[in-house]
Amino acid sequence: MNAEQAKIEIERLTDLIHHHNYLYYVDSNPEISDYDFDMLLLKLQELEKEFPQFAYDNSPTKRVGGDITKKFETVEHRFPMLSLSNSYSEEEIVDWVNRVKKIIDEEIEYVCELKYDGVAIGIRYENGQLTRAVTRGDGEKGEDVTNNVRTIRSVPLKLKGDFPEDFEIRGEIFMPQKQFQKLNSEREEIGETPFANPRNTASGTLKLQDSKIVAERGLDSYLYGLYGVNHNLKGHFEAVNEAGNWGFKVPSVKNRFIEKTNSIEGIMDFIHYWDKQRENLEFEIDGIVLKVNSYSQQQKLGFTAKSPRWAIAFKFKANRVETKLLEVTYQVGRTGAITPVANLEPVSLGGTTVKRASLHNADQIEKLDLHQGDFVFVEKGGEIIPKIVGINEQKRTESNLKIEFIVDCPECQTKLIRREGEAQHYCPNENFCPPQEKGRIEHFISRKALNIDGLGVETIDLLYSKGLIRNCADLYEITFEQIVSLDRMAEKSADNLLKSIEISKEIPFERVLFGLGIRFVGETVAKKLAKQFKNIDSIISASYDELIQTEEIGEKIAISVQQYFLEESNLEIINRLKNKGLWFQIREKEKLSAILEGKTIVVSGTFETFSRDELKELIDRNGGKNGSSVSGNTDYLVAGVNMGPAKLKKATDLGVKIISEDEFIKLISS
Ligand code: IVH
Repeated sequence: MNAEQAKIEIERLTDLIHHHNYLYYVDSNPEISDYDFDMLLLKLQELEKEFPQFAYDNSPTKRVGGDITKKFETVEHRFPMLSLSNSYSEEEIVDWVNRVKKIIDEEIEYVCELKYDGVAIGIRYENGQLTRAVTRGDGEKGEDVTNNVRTIRSVPLKLKGDFPEDFEIRGEIFMPQKQFQKLNSEREEIGETPFANPRNTASGTLKLQDSKIVAERGLDSYLYGLYGVNHNLKGHFEAVNEAGNWGFKVPSVKNRFIEKTNSIEGIMDFIHYWDKQRENLEFEIDGIVLKVNSYSQQQKLGFTAKSPRWAIAFKFKANRVETKLLEVTYQVGRTGAITPVANLEPVSLGGTTVKRASLHNADQIEKLDLHQGDFVFVEKGGEIIPKIVGINEQKRTESNLKIEFIVDCPECQTKLIRREGEAQHYCPNENFCPPQEKGRIEHFISRKALNIDGLGVETIDLLYSKGLIRNCADLYEITFEQIVSLDRMAEKSADNLLKSIEISKEIPFERVLFGLGIRFVGETVAKKLAKQFKNIDSIISASYDELIQTEEIGEKIAISVQQYFLEESNLEIINRLKNKGLWFQIREKEKLSAILEGKTIVVSGTFETFSRDELKELIDRNGGKNGSSVSGNTDYLVAGVNMGPAKLKKATDLGVKIISEDEFIKLISS
């Protein structure tokens, strides 16, 4: 393909992908399969790599992220970003309506909307292209988070229809419940503390430096306000609707996310409806927003120092009940982390019966000043698990002693530790504390690791209590007789279990590595480690510096990996697993030659014939070693187009041989 053809094809694919992205993420009405969509994107990515001069700033390939923001620049808002005055009762709403009526002596329409519980954002579009996205900040100045906002699928990168030349749209970025739960279960799987609630997580995510991680987190948006638009729009409701025609995800009348009314009754009906229905939404709202619709009436009403007079927020009461604390118990996780749990007298809250609430850690108990037998207030707010928000001190008696955090592990009686700067207590008895041992086995057999079917939590419990397993290596030594001797274990199930244990020996190295349960080594990190080091022995002997040079591996992970392999018992388990035939090295593609034996080669830039990854694979398959950066050890630098000048200079200074893609191909085919 020549440059001219490439330019046309890039334009065609760009528009096509924008269109299908809109259908999927805004319209919820896709026309092509996910696979076909991915194929289009891949094609565009490849073309952009080859012809970077034609790639758009707002290319749909930006959705997958990759741009890093070292420091978020502070920018002044073109229109100050105000907040809303809050109200908590229906009387306050009636008062507001009366205040409005006093100033506006004509028919008034009110727009009722959801109050999305996320992070406010202002996004500027120039000539239909997203040019800048800024957080609220202090209302005067915010932070430029454009790279990260570009990854949010429901925010259009390029507008359609009859849009204004230069304007700003404001709205809310949030994390849907499903994404939040997925993220937290992934975090728990690798021993990270789960995030507290979707709102803070959305806010934190928007400020991550690596937009690739933002892209994976699945943020979403609703947009609710236009600024700097000179269209002939009568009011807010029409404006929101019009913004929908330009490709924005805006609330719709169909599902009652937005509604126009001219009466108090209409407003109250909307409030009551959502107070009940909000549980069923896929994202969180913390109230309702009411706005006077007409722009000219809004102008007449004006602003107070902090907020518009033409709008008000009605905040829902968090679902709160009072109940009695029966007992605080303590759970021990796979990593030894201790979580205190409040066991409560069962009470109904927001449609479910609540019996337990997480207390997070010792600080939380201290902060609440929790005493035995206290009557506590429980809320189901942003968090999935209900939370104790306060104590009814009037009901406390002298005999209610203060709750003291435990000193010893409730499961194995080992003295607990609390590391410098950490909120969590840990049981350090990794090797003999039952829930830690069982938790590690459960992780090892889980679907994304060794995927051993027919071995649920209960069977692990049984095998463990009979003393048949203490670690994952023991699984490969249990016999048919031992399994059938367990309660409720039929011969057929025993057979199946043994079969799936046998099959797991074929699971690739990166999943075995993930299954070991090294703290902070999730699926992705395990993949990166496997790819970089090829086998377990190289990981075991890797220096700290070698580890942190690996993509996505930072200080925290490197230290954790090294600590894991310092532990004699871990090495022993690995040896036993190796002897049973599990994969502890990546399955190499067939070797092509040994022509690059002993040579370290760095690949940089974009290329004509091969992609960068393909070149790296060729180096591998011809016996060479891929270097991640140019150093004194580098033998060749394969230089493509668009390579950083600094790298080129460093290579020249160090006397590294710089070769082109063609020269590289000649080298390996000689
Ligand atoms: S309108 C001039 N509409 O609530 C006020 N805000 O306290 C413009 N919010 O910072 C805001 N849903 O982050 C408006 N439907 C909605 C909203 C909404 C959530 C947030 C927004 C704002 C805060 C106001």
